[in-house]
Amino acid sequence: MSPVTSLPSSAGGFPARRPRRLRASAPLRRLVAETRLHPADLVLPVFVREGLDAPRDITSLPGVRQHSRGSLVALAREAVDAGVGGIMVFGVPAVRDATGSGIDDPDGILNVALADLAEAVGDRTVLMADLCLDEFTDHGHCGVLDDRGRVDNDATLERYASAALAQAAAGVHLLGTSGMMDGQVGVVRRTLDEAGRQDTGIVAYAAKYASAFYGPFREAVESTLTGDRTTYQQDPAGARESLLEVSLDVEEGADMVMVKPALPYLDVLRQVADASPVPVAAYQVSGEYAMVAAAAANGWIDRDRAVMESLLSIRRAGADVVLTYSALDVARALQG
Ligand code: PBG
Repeated sequence: MSPVTSLPSSAGGFPARRPRRLRASAPLRRLVAETRLHPADLVLPVFVREGLDAPRDITSLPGVRQHSRGSLVALAREAVDAGVGGIMVFGVPAVRDATGSGIDDPDGILNVALADLAEAVGDRTVLMADLCLDEFTDHGHCGVLDDRGRVDNDATLERYASAALAQAAAGVHLLGTSGMMDGQVGVVRRTLDEAGRQDTGIVAYAAKYASAFYGPFREAVESTLTGDRTTYQQDPAGARESLLEVSLDVEEGADMVMVKPALPYLDVLRQVADASPVPVAAYQVSGEYAMVAAAAANGWIDRDRAVMESLLSIRRAGADVVLTYSALDVARALQG
């Protein structure tokens, strides 16, 4: 007999099973909670902008800022002190070009900021970097273009390999391969190994969808995209493809895989979590954060509760690690 039917559901006309009993007090609910949030599971994405002397607000991401090198280090120290598990760094260059030269320039904003962070907090946190060209190209695509304007997969892999070496040299612990080029994890892994960088890991954006929810990120990195990303990021209609992407990335050497965005793709996250032999991360992206912030600013939703509920949902769906712009706020709230 299954446990579900092992007891009568009513006795003498009253319910014999009363699930409300365990909901009756905060201590009871806390005791039986199946899923918990902990600061160590959270990763804070941060933006560092070349040429800034002071932080600058990002209108569509209230509470998130573009940082100067100095203010980024201060923010990272705060995050580490609050117990946040890791930091994902995005660089915003002052100048862009067709091949995204800034990404593998050791003096490029992302690489110098990573070196600052490695020096300041590198032994107390997990440093991650976005390994993607879109912040650095003038056309805004995640790769280089061929002579017909299409994103050239294999030419892009060469750029990623070079970027990987620059980021590893700057002291990053995990490289976030987020460009959705075929073979990117394998190329980056091989390049790192050949350079003696066996200790640098890869968090593969394995299942990454062509999503409207990246909207505010464009403002954050000042990127103007020509066209869209539908020829390399996944179609929102599909879930099965995510399992293929995950298995390829694991085969190619990913140390961790990611699903992105998070809340609109909890079904995908659950399937990936059930199938993945490596830890699974989920990215609560800019549009997810902005929706809650905008509704809360109108008084339509309780921001803190909505943030906690969405993060719990992402963990419940199977994420071991969650990237969220709320990481520092949540870590502080959890610390009490
Ligand atoms: C690629 C990248 C993007 C995001 C993270 N890495 C943009 C994109 O793929 O279009 C979006 C994150 C967010 O929206 O918060 N560099």
